[in-house]
Amino acid sequence: MGAFELRSANRRAQPLATDRIIAVLGDPSSEEVVKNLMRDQGIVGAHVARGAIDDAIELMRKLPHSPRHLLVDVSGSSMPISDLMRLAEVVDPSVSVVVVGDHNDVGLFRSLLRLGVQDYLVKPLTVELVQRALAASDPTASARAGKAIGFIGARGGVGVTTIATALARHLADKTRRRIAYVDLDLHGGAAASMLGIDANNGLAELMQNTHRLDQQLIHQTAVAQSDRLFIFSAELPYEQPLALRAGTVGELVAALKHHFHYVVLDLPQRAGGFVDETLDACETIHVVADRSVHAARETARLCRFAEGRPADAAVSVLLNNAQQPVRGRVAQSDFVHALGRASVHEFPYEPQTLAVAQNLGEAIGEGKHSAFARAVAALADAITGADAPAVVERGRWYARLLPKRSAS
Ligand SMILES: Nc1ncnc2c1ncn2[C@@H]1O[C@H](COP(=O)(O)OP(=O)(O)OP(=O)(O)O)[C@@H](O)[C@H]1O
Ligand SMILES: [Mg+2]
Repeated sequence: MGAFELRSANRRAQPLATDRIIAVLGDPSSEEVVKNLMRDQGIVGAHVARGAIDDAIELMRKLPHSPRHLLVDVSGSSMPISDLMRLAEVVDPSVSVVVVGDHNDVGLFRSLLRLGVQDYLVKPLTVELVQRALAASDPTASARAGKAIGFIGARGGVGVTTIATALARHLADKTRRRIAYVDLDLHGGAAASMLGIDANNGLAELMQNTHRLDQQLIHQTAVAQSDRLFIFSAELPYEQPLALRAGTVGELVAALKHHFHYVVLDLPQRAGGFVDETLDACETIHVVADRSVHAARETARLCRFAEGRPADAAVSVLLNNAQQPVRGRVAQSDFVHALGRASVHEFPYEPQTLAVAQNLGEAIGEGKHSAFARAVAALADAITGADAPAVVERGRWYARLLPKRSAS
C-alpha cells in the first residue's frame, strides 16, 4: 500500500455531505467507481463526467455555483502542477479539490498539498478510497484563500469607485474569477448604482454578525451582479452610525477571502473608523489620485502610511484624469517624480463613456473603443499576473503557499 492510500485508509469514514460534488475523470472504470459511490450514498447533487483537466476547467468556468467537492484527473497530463494552477483560477478557494492520478509520486503529492489540494488518489480507484477522501476533505479547513485589494482616494471624488467597480466587473466577466465587492461607504456608497443593482443593508448585517460568517450568511447578504460578482453594501440612515467592534473588518475580509478569488475593498475615506483595519487586511492597496498638488501630497502621505502598516501590503498609485485636462494641472512626470516612484498607472479622461456606463449601470465602453476600459484591463492583468511572468506567483491565491524565493 502506497503512502497516499495509507493516508486515506487511516481516516474514519464519515457520511458524505450531499451538496454538490463534481467529478471529471479520464477513464471508464474510475468514472464507474464514482458513479457507484454516488448511487450507494444516494447523492443526487453530483455530476460525474469523462474528461481531462481541460474539460474540468471549461466546466468550472461555465458553472454558476461552486460545488463543495471537485474530483479531477491529472493522469495523462505532462504538467499537472501548471494545469492545476489554471484550474485554481476558475475554482473559488472554498471548493475542496481532490486530485486523481496514475503516478505514486511523493514529490507530486507534496506539491499538490502546497497548492491547497486536499488529497491525491492513485488509480485504480475504489468506492471506499473515494468516499474516504471526499468525506475527510473539509472545505472549511482549506488553506486556500483569495486576495484582498484595497482602493483608497487621496481626496474625495477622484474616481475610487469608478475604477474599483470597473476592475471588479472586468475580473468577474473576462477572467471568470469570483469577486466580492465591499463598499465601505455604509451610508449609501455609489458602487451598487454603478454596477446596476439595488443596494441593501447586507454589509451592515454581516459586520454585526462576524461570529457566524458562514457561506449561507455571506450569500444571503450579498447582492449578485452576475454569477461571479457579488456586492456587499449598506444604506444606513444618515443619523445611524454603525458602532463596530475592533477586528470586525479583519474577520469579515478573512471570511470573504475563503469564498472569493478577489475581495475588492472600496474605502470612502482616508482616516478614522475602520480604515487602518481595512488596510491591514489587504495584500494590495491602490491609492487613487487626480492631478492636483493636494492629491500628490496626500498620495505621498497615504503611501507612507500604508507601507508603514504591519501588514506589509504592496502599495501602488493610480493616477486618474477625473477632470477635464486643462493647463495648470500637475504633469504625470512631475507627479511620478514627486512621489519618488518608478511609475504610476494612469487612467484617461473619458466623461462621455463613463457617464453612459454609470448612469445605466453597464460595463464601461462595452463594444466600443475605450481607453479607460483598456487601462482597467491592464490593471486587471497586473493583478492576476496575466501580463508578466514575474508577477504570476505573487498575484495568485496560492502564492503564500509556495516557498519564498531568496532575495539573491
Ligand atoms: N477618468 C475619468 N474621466 C471622466 N470622469 C471620471 C473619471 N473618473 C471618474 N470620473 C467621474 O468622477 C465622478 C466621481 O467618481 P467616483 O464616484 O468614482 O469617485 P470616488 O473617489 O469614489 O468618490 P467618493 O469620494 O465620493 O467616494 C463620477 O461622476 C465619475 O464618472
Ligand atoms: Mg466612492
